[in-house]
Amino acid sequence: MSIEEENRFLVRKLEISDKSRGFIELLQQLTVCNPISEEEFNARFQDISSYGDDHVICVIEDTESKKIVATGSVFLEKKFVRNCGKVGHIEDVVVDSNVRGMKLGQKVIEFLTNHAKLMGCYKVILDCSGDNKVFYEKCGFKEKEIQMAMYFN
Ligand SMILES: CC(C)(COP(=O)(O)OP(=O)(O)OC[C@H]1O[C@@H](n2cnc3c(N)ncnc32)[C@H](O)[C@@H]1OP(=O)(O)O)[C@@H](O)C(=O)NCCC(=O)NCCS
Repeated sequence: MSIEEENRFLVRKLEISDKSRGFIELLQQLTVCNPISEEEFNARFQDISSYGDDHVICVIEDTESKKIVATGSVFLEKKFVRNCGKVGHIEDVVVDSNVRGMKLGQKVIEFLTNHAKLMGCYKVILDCSGDNKVFYEKCGFKEKEIQMAMYFN
């Protein structure tokens, strides 16, 4: 990435004003994410913020278009095992289809894994489709066991 591009893309934590910068529309490129009201967004933002460093959402803002073009989150789970250890769970990683292939996904993962490490997690884990396996390997992850899921809706 050139210096110009480095300066163009700002990596930071989610802010309450990011709803107006296309944050929800970006999540719609990942999965079902119906439009929500300002009040619903603000309430959920406050809820997540109350976890402080234990639940962090990273975004990348394109400072030219003022749009959010990449995101991912990490939730820190407190455990009894491993000397009351902590595990980071990475979720909801997506890069806007117009700017994929510019290492923005890698930047989001770097931000989230650094945060988990800094906060004392002994590991960070995530689930992904087979299509994204190589992407996560390039980010330093290794395949381990299998995912099980039970959806309620
Ligand atoms: C997967 C995704 C987040 C990758 O983001 P990105 O910004 O395009 O990826 P990057 O540019 O940071 O890629 C980093 C490296 O991984 C490679 N890579 C990225 N996606 C890949 C894929 N699907 N298959 C193989 N390699 C991939 C890139 O070529 C690059 O390799 P290089 O370092 O050798 O050049 C993005 O494609 C996306 O949002 N997809 C749709 C949503 C999704 O599937 N999210 C993941 C949910 S688990």
